[in-house]
Amino acid sequence: MLSFQYLLESFEKRFQTEIQNIQNTAPLQLYGPIAYSLAVGGKRIRPVLLLHAASLFSRYPETFFPAAAAIELFHNFTLLHDDIMDHAAIRRGVPSVHVKYSENSAILSGDAMSILSFQMLSQCEPSKLPSVLTLFSTTAIEVCEGQQFDMEFEEKDQVTIVEYLEMIRLKTAVLIACSLKTGAMLAGADELNCQLLYDFGLAIGIAFQLQDDWLDVYGEERSFGKKIGGDICENKKTCLLISAMKLCDERNRSKLLEWTSKSDFDKKEKIEAVRRIFSESGAATATKALMKHYHDLGIEKLNQIAITDSEKTELRNFASALLSRVK
Ligand code: IPE
Ligand code: IPE
Ligand code: MG
Ligand code: MG
Ligand code: MG
Repeated sequence: MLSFQYLLESFEKRFQTEIQNIQNTAPLQLYGPIAYSLAVGGKRIRPVLLLHAASLFSRYPETFFPAAAAIELFHNFTLLHDDIMDHAAIRRGVPSVHVKYSENSAILSGDAMSILSFQMLSQCEPSKLPSVLTLFSTTAIEVCEGQQFDMEFEEKDQVTIVEYLEMIRLKTAVLIACSLKTGAMLAGADELNCQLLYDFGLAIGIAFQLQDDWLDVYGEERSFGKKIGGDICENKKTCLLISAMKLCDERNRSKLLEWTSKSDFDKKEKIEAVRRIFSESGAATATKALMKHYHDLGIEKLNQIAITDSEKTELRNFASALLSRVK
């Protein structure tokens, strides 16, 4: 079993070499934005999860680097398009690709990243390719479905917590689950262990997005790297908004409805007013409780995997660190 720290460092080293190659490829206007988005960093949780899962079942996770890089490329592609859709100007503390370059650049460089991710993945062991590719392409289309629901929900007043959970399962959790399962598949783990890792990933992926939504309201721009309050401005139907609508009194409910129906508003004023209602109504506490519930569900799955208890340490620590992450 290899540690997250070791895998992060070894992945990053090889990935930076790939980024250099991309950066020097013509046309520079296509590859430059790709290198920019990949080089400014990120937590790299998906490739590290893939490599770690592989290391639980095999001794040579370095040979799984292309698959890990593929997942990171795909993830970054989704961010280029997501920032256009969410009108998000800052990512990882620097201007988003569509702001730094242009919307057209972010669209086309994003498309290229998506295709490159499939090219990278196809470098895995040929006998594993059919199953790995089926999972990866299914996941990729699910992410699009989740993003579509996310956008549709902005325009809807009535979104249930069940609909929200399905939306975040699709837009976020499936890629985290896919990372873990792909690592296990490449390393030759049996079907049951692959599935348990996938289910662990789904549960912690949901907890991960719940914390992302919480940080979008209560985080610090300096550590989070994104503008705080973006989801409030975009009327995102997060667990916070859905819970606040349910838990708050009549007066605050009409205030929330008024804020979400305004098309012209002062951002700071809206963010502060809505944030106050989230806190007073108990929506922030409810979101944290739901996060803990999904964390615990994930741990239940992890406990069933056929590896030793000490081999579960890294994943257990990772799951609990998610609950209080600040970036
Ligand atoms: C951001 O993912 C998109 C979500 C699914 C919330 P990360 O928080 O993993 O982004 P980086 O790659 O670390 O910046
Ligand atoms: C992102 O959800 C999910 C995908 C990019 C697929 P968010 O829109 O919440 O992610 P951030 O907050 O912009 O990173
Ligand atoms: Mg976004
Ligand atoms: Mg989004
Ligand atoms: Mg977010």
